[in-house]
Amino acid sequence: MKGVILAGGLGTRLHPLTKVTNKHLLPIYTKPMIYYPIEALVGAGIRDILVVTGGNSAGDFLKLLGNGSAFGLPAINYTYQEGEGGIADALRLARYFSGDDAICVILGDNIFEKSIRRAVESYEERGGTGAQIFLKKVDDPQRFGVPVFKDGKVVGIEEKPSHPKSQYAVTGIYIFDQRVFEIIETLKPSHRGELEITDVNNAYIEWGEMHWAELDGWWTDAGTFESLLKANNLVAQTGANNPEE
Ligand code: G1P
Repeated sequence: MKGVILAGGLGTRLHPLTKVTNKHLLPIYTKPMIYYPIEALVGAGIRDILVVTGGNSAGDFLKLLGNGSAFGLPAINYTYQEGEGGIADALRLARYFSGDDAICVILGDNIFEKSIRRAVESYEERGGTGAQIFLKKVDDPQRFGVPVFKDGKVVGIEEKPSHPKSQYAVTGIYIFDQRVFEIIETLKPSHRGELEITDVNNAYIEWGEMHWAELDGWWTDAGTFESLLKANNLVAQTGANNPEE
């Protein structure tokens, strides 16, 4: 499996912090934000990693991450998203990098308490096809993609619904097989003018090829002032990407 980190966008919800730099270069406790998703992938045994960046300060990623040796990687790959096409548009750029392999995609502002190794292994044990999402119960599901359940199955995902149909958020880690790139080509921009990862997930759900698991440990994004503060506090308290006992 290969890994893709989506670290573009203008981070407008964090202005003025992101006026001159990229959100994913901001500090979370002792490290730049982008370190956490890289360490999550490396901790899961994934060594082929693509960073998709965009917006401000894209060149600083190269300066910061170099050839990946600080993470024990033989190399690290980069590409650049032009414009503001959304998460699924950024993912489109991973097509030639991923070849025939499945990909583990992490949104660059998502931080996890526990290692994702077991989650990655469970996808591979099932045969390495279809998609997998990871859910977490939250107090404010209307900020996220929210799964709709029927008889224990996820039958759809609603993006930032004003009346969420469950208490769960779809976290920003996804595993997809190669067909994700065919799905992306069929997507239409949402009302916010972006290609939505939720629409990708809904296509797998319609095919009956979506699996889900509930995440262990805390999870947070860091794209708003409140969640950025929360991420700093949580990482300071427990660290991130901790190996499971
Ligand atoms: C994105 C996704 C959303 C997901 C969230 C996780 O939202 O669109 O479905 O729940 O990431 O962090 P955004 O942060 O782009 O608003």
